[in-house]
Amino acid sequence: MSYSKKSAQNALLYPRNVMPEKFVSVKVKSIPPSGIRKFFDLVLEMDGVISLGVGEPDFVTPWHIREACIYSLEQGVTSYTSNFGLLELRELISKSIRKDYDVDYDPRAEVLITTGVSEAADLAFRAVINPGDEVIIPEPSYVSYKPSVSLAGGIPVPVPSYQDNEFRVTADQIEKSITKKTKAIVLSYPNNPTGAVMRRSDLEDIANVVSEKDLMVISDEVYGKLTYEGTHTCFSSIPGMKERSIILNGFSKSHAMTGLRLGYAVGNEALIAAMTKIHQYAMLCAPVTAQIGGIEALKNGDTELKKMVREYDRRRRLVVSGLNKLGLDCFEPMGAFYAFPSIKSTGMNSEEFAGRLLKEQKVAVVPGDVFGDCGAGYLRCSYATSREELIEALARIEAFLDSL
Ligand SMILES: Cc1ncc(COP(=O)(O)O)c(C=O)c1O
Repeated sequence: MSYSKKSAQNALLYPRNVMPEKFVSVKVKSIPPSGIRKFFDLVLEMDGVISLGVGEPDFVTPWHIREACIYSLEQGVTSYTSNFGLLELRELISKSIRKDYDVDYDPRAEVLITTGVSEAADLAFRAVINPGDEVIIPEPSYVSYKPSVSLAGGIPVPVPSYQDNEFRVTADQIEKSITKKTKAIVLSYPNNPTGAVMRRSDLEDIANVVSEKDLMVISDEVYGKLTYEGTHTCFSSIPGMKERSIILNGFSKSHAMTGLRLGYAVGNEALIAAMTKIHQYAMLCAPVTAQIGGIEALKNGDTELKKMVREYDRRRRLVVSGLNKLGLDCFEPMGAFYAFPSIKSTGMNSEEFAGRLLKEQKVAVVPGDVFGDCGAGYLRCSYATSREELIEALARIEAFLDSL
């Protein structure tokens, strides 16, 4: 066979008109894109917008943490670490959990360093979910849990929470949603998007249900340090819950380290080993530079952390009282950095209000129903932005309301 004849045959064997979408899995096609993204693509195209939309600190990472990262780079520390993460960081995490919540985690087997809480959550779901397992997710909720549960082969079961119960989910509601297929419950307090926190007694009631029904809890406590009223309760500090939970946490919010991508999971050795199995193939390890930053944050970061918390608290009071004065009924958030005002009095739905506010007054907020159906009639306003911008945003919202 001559060379030219062979290539002609190859051309027939590999036709060019292929639609690449057909290679995308059915499961991924079934996952809707994030509602927040859709909105923020619009914001990026506009000038002069005040954004109360993103869930990201406006502070840069404290200088001493950046300096530690830079110094490590200068020293040539650029290699992989253990899959579990640097032992020194795991030891510091274990020590800080013992100090804050009186729970003991073995740094050698019960702590896994991850690429943000995002990866830790994904690993936790993939490590525990069997096909068809149901996972209870109180709503309004951070947008990633539902798709992550679905991608892991599970079935997300949303449970609504309401303003008249301060957006706290109850043990009773959870109990009523349990079926034979229920495997786990996601808890995420202080909550994104409502700022709700759970009382210790709420968590104890849930712990009773968890024990009785032989379930487990995945508790995302990334906003735990940003608690303004009362104290944060780590779920595993409730007797009997350490063996039944995976606690997720990280440095993005508490130490303004979002772009460095550093998180961790703590839990029983068997659960952490299962998560590490996936992590070692999917990620190998968290970025070493970020891990060095994490060590510095835990060793010397308390002063800066307290400063940021004080500033968020001031902004929280400014925004909540400002919104209430404008007639937008705003529940008092006790943690995280979001206000969740009701706009039901305006007669508009969340998407219409957010869309018109953006177009007419250039203030970006997120429609509440992006976080679950029970968020309909609310907006998420992040106050992780300067006080000057918050004051201007409130003035623009007032002008918008006056124009209705
Ligand atoms: C509740 C919650 N969990 C996790 C994350 C993601 O955290 P990380 O940056 O550590 O991946 C966010 C980010 O907004 C969040 O709000």
